[in-house]
Amino acid sequence: MPEPTRIPGRRFLHSPGPTPVPDEVLHALMRQPMDLGDPRVNETIEACESGLKRLLDAPAGADVFFFASNGHGVWEAVIENLAPPGGTVLIPGTGHFSESWAIQTEALGRRVVRTPWHEGYPIDAAAVEQALRADHAREIVAVLVVHTDTSSGVTSDLAALRDAIDRADHPALFVVDGVASFGAAPFSMQALRCDVAVGASQKALMCPPGVGFTAVNPAALAVAVRNPAPRFYWDWVRRKSDLSYRKFCGTAPQSVMAGMEAALGLIFSEGLDEVFARHRRLARAVHAAVDAWRSAGALGFFGREPTSRSVSVTTITVPPGTDVDALRAVARERFQVAIAGALGPLIGRGFRIGHLGDQNPAGILGALAGIEAAMTVQGIPFGRDGVARAVAALAAE
Ligand SMILES: Cc1ncc(COP(=O)(O)O)c(C=O)c1O
Repeated sequence: MPEPTRIPGRRFLHSPGPTPVPDEVLHALMRQPMDLGDPRVNETIEACESGLKRLLDAPAGADVFFFASNGHGVWEAVIENLAPPGGTVLIPGTGHFSESWAIQTEALGRRVVRTPWHEGYPIDAAAVEQALRADHAREIVAVLVVHTDTSSGVTSDLAALRDAIDRADHPALFVVDGVASFGAAPFSMQALRCDVAVGASQKALMCPPGVGFTAVNPAALAVAVRNPAPRFYWDWVRRKSDLSYRKFCGTAPQSVMAGMEAALGLIFSEGLDEVFARHRRLARAVHAAVDAWRSAGALGFFGREPTSRSVSVTTITVPPGTDVDALRAVARERFQVAIAGALGPLIGRGFRIGHLGDQNPAGILGALAGIEAAMTVQGIPFGRDGVARAVAALAAE
């Protein structure tokens, strides 16, 4: 890959994943690889296992299984381990990411029951309850929930979904994709009685892409043990071992694991409560700026309810005909602020600002100013006091 032309100062990465990698994590990534028998390999993996169990508040007896993969890889692990060939799962609609998981599930020969997605809104827990009640034969083996849909920037209420499953008195397993929320928003496998938590390295865990993981409670592992679906690389059961070579079904991606150990260390030394509070503060600042921008009538929040707007990413709608890719190019190349486009059903209809992971007020204010500069160049009308409103939101904390 050609080296990008050197630009003085820092580039601001505000995609909602991959996210900036802190220096401490970069230094860990730079360590030399180790031979496979070196006990330090296992120590690193064990540190990541126990760190993630702590982060996710996993119950006693839970296992963390890592994969040299991205988020799609761990989606596949969930499907292959929990659903038998031809088996059924329920995927409540959140937009792009629930639909992508559903399409992947169907491609693997399983049936998907969907609940409708209402644009700009979180998952409708009543529709989930209704779909489960309608499953008289109890064929649905699991409810696969995307907590924060990174495309819409909307976060769903996991406790309400847990209640919906309980109210329907359905035995389906509760599986949560926290790829965009783990490490940014509070989450507890125990409190939610979540059976499987699915995550990846490249978002609020502040690592480069390359490692996906599933935290699996004993009930879900028992389902996998009984599941006759043919599988090998993704098989949780085969990975239950003390040997790193077995845990990874081959050579462990040592560098990303070393980075994850360092990243988890940073999260715990900052303190979980403070990490979550920081994400809330920064999200409030971004929301304050967008609130000002939209006063000119062109831009808007994609998330319709302030309470379900994510602490990780904000999706901003643009008027029809806006060239979002050109806006992103100007923001990135001229003002050194990388933002994301919208995905799936939202393509061309908006852009996204990531505010998760290794972020602070200076970075957020710089990003907002850079985006304002790019919108000015592109002639996109916006209410002018966005940065000032973000400053006021941060100063009021
Ligand atoms: C919530 C969520 N789930 C799953 C994925 C898929 O992850 P990946 O792109 O690493 O395959 C993403 C990617 O952004 C995501 O945001």
